[in-house]
Amino acid sequence: MATTPTPADKFTFGLWTVGYNGADPFGGPTRAPLDVVHVVEKLTELGAYGLTLHDDDLFAFGSTDAERRTQIDRLIAAKESTGLQVPMITTNLFSAPVFKDGGFTSNDRAVRRFALRKVLRNLDLAAELGAHTFVMWGGREGAEYDSAKNVGAAIQRYREAVNVLTQYVTEQGYGIRFAIEPKPNEPRGDILLPTLGHAMAFIETLDRPDLVGLNPETGHEQMAGLNFTAGIAQALEAGKLFHIDLNGQRGIKYDQDLVFGHGDLHNAFSLVDLLENGGPNGGPAYDGPRHFDYKPSRTEDETGVWESATANMRTYLLLKERAAAFRADPEVQQALADARVAELSTPTLGEGESIADLLADSSAYEGFDSGAYFDGHGFGFVRLQQLATEHLMGARG
Ligand code: GCO
Ligand code: MN
Ligand code: MN
Repeated sequence: MATTPTPADKFTFGLWTVGYNGADPFGGPTRAPLDVVHVVEKLTELGAYGLTLHDDDLFAFGSTDAERRTQIDRLIAAKESTGLQVPMITTNLFSAPVFKDGGFTSNDRAVRRFALRKVLRNLDLAAELGAHTFVMWGGREGAEYDSAKNVGAAIQRYREAVNVLTQYVTEQGYGIRFAIEPKPNEPRGDILLPTLGHAMAFIETLDRPDLVGLNPETGHEQMAGLNFTAGIAQALEAGKLFHIDLNGQRGIKYDQDLVFGHGDLHNAFSLVDLLENGGPNGGPAYDGPRHFDYKPSRTEDETGVWESATANMRTYLLLKERAAAFRADPEVQQALADARVAELSTPTLGEGESIADLLADSSAYEGFDSGAYFDGHGFGFVRLQQLATEHLMGARG
């Protein structure tokens, strides 16, 4: 069983994830900070493919140019000596007090201009580090009070900002695409673009929609009570799954950022099955990094940090192995056929069939006895779900 991660699995981690020091709104840090070079070496040793980061994870907000350069050079040296990649970076527009009302959508225009400059500078860094994806999580873009934020104007400023950024990468010739990360709330009471559906609709209004997709996070959709696998399936169908943040969440509450699979395990199973086996020809549906955006709980020491990093990768690989067994089981194949899952891929109208042809087909309506048709046969979806459950539990081959 291949549960030992290798770079071919494309597992990546945020510097802010393993580097999380345990501080929360009720208590300070429980762990010492981790140096970026140490993180690069440990992730390489554990079999990861890459590291991702915010600008402020690598060099503190307000660093001088020289301090900034030193840290970038240390990362580049560590990257070169280990082979670890930096496939994605992002900008912190939420921690510094200046962003207390957001970056791109602050009511204060000077803050918005400063935010744009911070991101443009970070796009140059993305290009320098060889990153191809630039994530935009707008945690402070939002409000607590309806009368304090003109949401229509905020969306216009958001659009203006993303249009500027896509124009910039195009002019610079950077091979970078943007991935918007939705979240319903926290830290703001209500965040703009709260779910992947809101973000997908927004993307279609941009100047360069081809350059902008999604970075959905398991816990964020689940905080809104939504089915993450179903959302990912829609994003994939639209060609908008540019990146993914995997983690665990137990229901509608604060953002837990647990280890992948330590929340809704059934949904994690269907997600891995979708990513690995849901492609149009049965292969992988997504070939980008499997990025873990989790927080090692503040109860853990540094040993626990690295154990939790491994736990994310191991759980993913175990689920991948379980999903392959599920797909290969003849009883599952029979249950899928009985449930007519594949039949949904057949278009509802025949090839070349017109609306007039459909109207002329009396077997579709006048002769279709809907009562008798469904009398006596079910779809067997529950049996299929039980087979999935048994494979997930390791109770079947
Ligand atoms: C969260 C978010 C963040 C973002 C990250 C990238 O804390 O809720 O998931 O972790 O993913 O800041 O910008
Ligand atoms: Mn989160
Ligand atoms: Mn995230």
